[in-house]
Amino acid sequence: MIFEQIAAGGCQSYLLGCGETCAAAVIDPEISQIDRYLALAARDGLRIHYLIDTHTHADHFSASRQLARQLGAPVVMHRASPAPFVDMRLGDGEMLVVGRLRLRALHTPGHTCDSMCLIAEDRLFSGDTLLIGGTGRTDLPSGDAEALYDSLFLRLLRLDPALKVFPAHDYKGNGSSSIAKELATNPRLQKRDRAAFVEMMRTLDLTMPTHVTEALRTNMSGGKTVAQMLAEAAARVPFMSLAELKLRLEDREKDLIVLDMRERDAYETGHIPGARLLPRGQLELRADQELPDPTRRVLAYCEFGRISTLAAATLHEMGFQRAVALDGGMKAWREAGYPVKAGQDP
Ligand SMILES: [Fe+2]
Repeated sequence: MIFEQIAAGGCQSYLLGCGETCAAAVIDPEISQIDRYLALAARDGLRIHYLIDTHTHADHFSASRQLARQLGAPVVMHRASPAPFVDMRLGDGEMLVVGRLRLRALHTPGHTCDSMCLIAEDRLFSGDTLLIGGTGRTDLPSGDAEALYDSLFLRLLRLDPALKVFPAHDYKGNGSSSIAKELATNPRLQKRDRAAFVEMMRTLDLTMPTHVTEALRTNMSGGKTVAQMLAEAAARVPFMSLAELKLRLEDREKDLIVLDMRERDAYETGHIPGARLLPRGQLELRADQELPDPTRRVLAYCEFGRISTLAAATLHEMGFQRAVALDGGMKAWREAGYPVKAGQDP
């Protein structure tokens, strides 16, 4: 088996390949690592046939859908997954054939109702059901401490003790463990009485993961993250640096129109001298009125440089081919000590 473990923050994902046939699968791909999976697969001479999510992630952004589209390969999840874009839904005990490799799915609800683990040769990909020195939490949507007890004590921990364990999260850089090691040392597995385990899980009082609603929104619907929308917009537009803009304003460049995309009160408190006010929310409806010549160079800025990136991409879409975004925003402009004008007029 060709095997790559990819860590992004605490998120662990895995590229598994069959050396004989060059077929491969990715388990729990994460959105910031898309280029890495493709590069590793290319380096190892593999073609990715399946994108597998072990469960609906609340704490990382899945890349399954995007990679699946790019590669023409199916998204695979357990059949309890609520995501409408899943192409192949596995039931307990079913297998994926990846060349000569066999990936067997075990339904292990508890962390979420759609959690599954996968066994390939001597390895258990345990998702967020069994972690190294921990277990998945059960207080997020569809979590169930009783179900987790059954999944752990009646299923996973009865597997071959020699199985290596590769979880979906590991924040301590352990890499991997084994069933035997977790049985012996994992503090959460020492309460082997059902009621005591359930009580422990219910009183953990963990902080919510960051971006939990955004992760659930995108992972359950297949929609885009805000970072993805910004990256896509940024890929379509040129940028101009703060210093370059300052120089051009000092030279009184005739052709340049500077647009402040913030709301009126922010504009009146302080804007770049010469900038016109055109709030982002009014852009599409007022663009023709405000910018009658689509061949002019238009620079969009906002407070932090994010809204202006989206705005510049919208302007491009509308035909303003010379729209650019400021690399930075009004905040950075002020902090650089560049000139600021208050009031209603440019
Ligand atoms: Fe999770």
